[in-house]
Amino acid sequence: MSGPLIMGIESSCDETGVGIVRGHELLADEVASSVEEQARYGGVVPEVASRAHLEAMIPTVQRALEKADVSLSELDAIAVTAGPGLAGALMVGVGAAKALSAATGVPLYGVNHLSSHIAVDTLENGPLEGSAIGLLVSGGHSNIIRVDDLALKTSYVGETLDDAAGEAFDKVARIVGLPYPGGPVIDKAAKEGDREAIRFPRGLTQAKDMKKHRYDFSFSGLKTAVARWIEAREGSEIPVNDVAASFQEAVCDVLTKKAVLAAQEMDIDTILLGGGVAANSRLRELLHERTAEADLNLRYPRMRLCTDNGAMVAALGSHLVSAGLPASELRFPTDSSLSV
Ligand code: KG4
Ligand code: ZN
Repeated sequence: MSGPLIMGIESSCDETGVGIVRGHELLADEVASSVEEQARYGGVVPEVASRAHLEAMIPTVQRALEKADVSLSELDAIAVTAGPGLAGALMVGVGAAKALSAATGVPLYGVNHLSSHIAVDTLENGPLEGSAIGLLVSGGHSNIIRVDDLALKTSYVGETLDDAAGEAFDKVARIVGLPYPGGPVIDKAAKEGDREAIRFPRGLTQAKDMKKHRYDFSFSGLKTAVARWIEAREGSEIPVNDVAASFQEAVCDVLTKKAVLAAQEMDIDTILLGGGVAANSRLRELLHERTAEADLNLRYPRMRLCTDNGAMVAALGSHLVSAGLPASELRFPTDSSLSV
């Protein structure tokens, strides 16, 4: 295997990730998560995340180097998440990456977290030929992104107007009394439930909304609908598995329909799924069904690579270096609302 040797550093939310790749080959993927600590607060507390990154960063870098059996000076570049994400959390990763770059002379690339979620797929499925519609669904974002070239040309097609899909999973889990993070536990509970039991609303799918918000999402009305449904049954036992399955179906129905529609209407034959919610088993199943019906290709990485990690940052860095893009200036800023 050949290609540039790249270290990727991720710290935009509650995962401290360091990955090392050579070209499209994954050599190391070390992640330290503060998710258990965050679970005590029922969600991510930015201050807790920043402190956890600070403690975990250097040991995670060391573990990744050992795993890949390379030294810092052998690297062709270091890529680091510059945004979007939590400001204080981003600063820890960017600060560490700048220090490593300054000390070793290895070029540094500040990269976009969302583009990294898309680029990670190339580690498993090889280079992306032609254009793709990226369906990027995480705790902080829900976007449909048109990807014409991973390094040079990506653009938003649609976005959420309120909650992100993962955020909706986390909030609904809390409403039905399940722990944080809500995505995996709702996914599990839903397997025992009936997804047809309750018909929850599908946001922004009515004819009037499809004119102005054709590829956009809205999940806050769905979350409220779940809360109302439960309130109306106060005192009686809540069928948690049915609620989980029906809620999950409403989210997955809208996500898959709009992504397929975007691909068809833009004449793009590939859908690429990424982000933490891409680990959802029903989302994968439904997207398989609907892309097959529409004769579209579907790509996604294994579940472990869907949630935040350093390998995805390294994958994008590898692409930027191979495309001959210049490194970032050492003083580049973090940007908590960076767009693709
Ligand atoms: O991409 P990610 O690790 O972090 C962000 O950049 O936000 O995504 C985390 C989100 C959380 O909201 C979590 O509940 C959700 O991904 N998630 C899932 C599943 N696994 C993680 N959502 C639905 N089903 C899952 N199996
Ligand atoms: Zn993410």
